[in-house]
Amino acid sequence: MSESQPEIRKGLVGVVADVSAVSKVMPETNSLTYRGYAVQDLCEACSFEEVAYLLWNGELPNQAQLDAFRKEEAANRAISPALIEVIRQFPKDAHPMDAIRTAVSFMGLEDPETADTSEPATRRKAMRLLAKIPTAIAAAHRLSKGEEPVAPRSDLTFAENFFQVVFGKVPAKEVVKSFDVSLILYAEHGFNASTFTARTVTSTGADLHGAITAGIAALKGPLHGGANEAVMHMLKEIGSPEKAVSWLEGKFDHKALVMGFGHRVYKNGDSRVPTMTKYADKMAEVVGDKRWMETSRVLAAEMLKRKNIHPNLDFPAGPAYYLMGFDIPLFTPIFVASRVTGWSAHVIEQAADNRLIRPLSQYSGVAQRAVTPISARG
Ligand code: COA
Repeated sequence: MSESQPEIRKGLVGVVADVSAVSKVMPETNSLTYRGYAVQDLCEACSFEEVAYLLWNGELPNQAQLDAFRKEEAANRAISPALIEVIRQFPKDAHPMDAIRTAVSFMGLEDPETADTSEPATRRKAMRLLAKIPTAIAAAHRLSKGEEPVAPRSDLTFAENFFQVVFGKVPAKEVVKSFDVSLILYAEHGFNASTFTARTVTSTGADLHGAITAGIAALKGPLHGGANEAVMHMLKEIGSPEKAVSWLEGKFDHKALVMGFGHRVYKNGDSRVPTMTKYADKMAEVVGDKRWMETSRVLAAEMLKRKNIHPNLDFPAGPAYYLMGFDIPLFTPIFVASRVTGWSAHVIEQAADNRLIRPLSQYSGVAQRAVTPISARG
């Protein structure tokens, strides 16, 4: 690499930007660990709250630590009347990701410790965000449909309460477990675009609410979190397993992206897909509607055969959420409710050993020239 011809890694492909002890993405073995634990093992053995504790503290909690964590999270679920009033003013057709981004930004205006970027304050703020985000997501969603918000309940788990604030009731245990698993799988994934965004904001010395607001903005994009919604729209457009191959042909003819497939890091399969597929299949059984998962299977097999491209987590998560009864625009906000744990862990890590993130660009514009006074411009 010489000064005149710097190596440009567009999209920062393959660039190792820093060290991180939060998670390890291993494309060679299609595996992922959080703080050293395989994510599929965490899904089977732990609750989302245990995993959130793990991401923030480096170790799984004992019972007393988990009880204290749950108590604090449950006690912080209510959002202020002022925020509910702000949410009422949102346009009815506002995208739910724009709604939660704005709500989190507003929480930053209200939080008593917003400007305190010390680690203890950041941890307290992260807990408040984790607790309040589902309440705000659900309030925005319900108000957009002309329904009144439902108050959170402190006697429920994080996953149960999510259903409570969205639907006003908690479903069967296996539905809650499948949802909890999806939260664990979405919680953390290395230096993905939204996490890197949150770390970049943190590197300037800005506060947690700013970092999380920016992370939500990055996650909205269809190349990132927005793909789980796009997958369900695609499955509905296809309609049935028999139509999947011809639908795909049409996409190949136009060289179009097929949502829910491909990954920047995993090229031989996403570590999280088998677990999410297992629980999406369970949902199909519980609901008694296998058409979405059967269509998915045909699509995945054909994509592999024709393009050698594997599905990513969004591919099974989309139909799983649909089968749980969530409206499609809620899928990416659910990702936010979970990923706030990973983002916060990275914010804490970045701040603890910070250096301003500030890469270079190679100039490609016009050569330097003289300014002409306006009177002389044509
Ligand atoms: N559908 C069709 N073709 C795809 C594809 C998809 N979902 N994902 C990748 N490809 C193709 C690319 O077009 C490219 O083809 P080319 O070599 O003929 O140009 C090739 O596979 C290599 O892909 P690449 O562009 O190197 O992938 P990337 O690392 O830049 O992008 C994603 C990764 C995730 C952005 C990309 O796979 C994508 O857009 N997927 C769909 C959106 C999605 O599901 N996002 C969620 C990610 S978790």
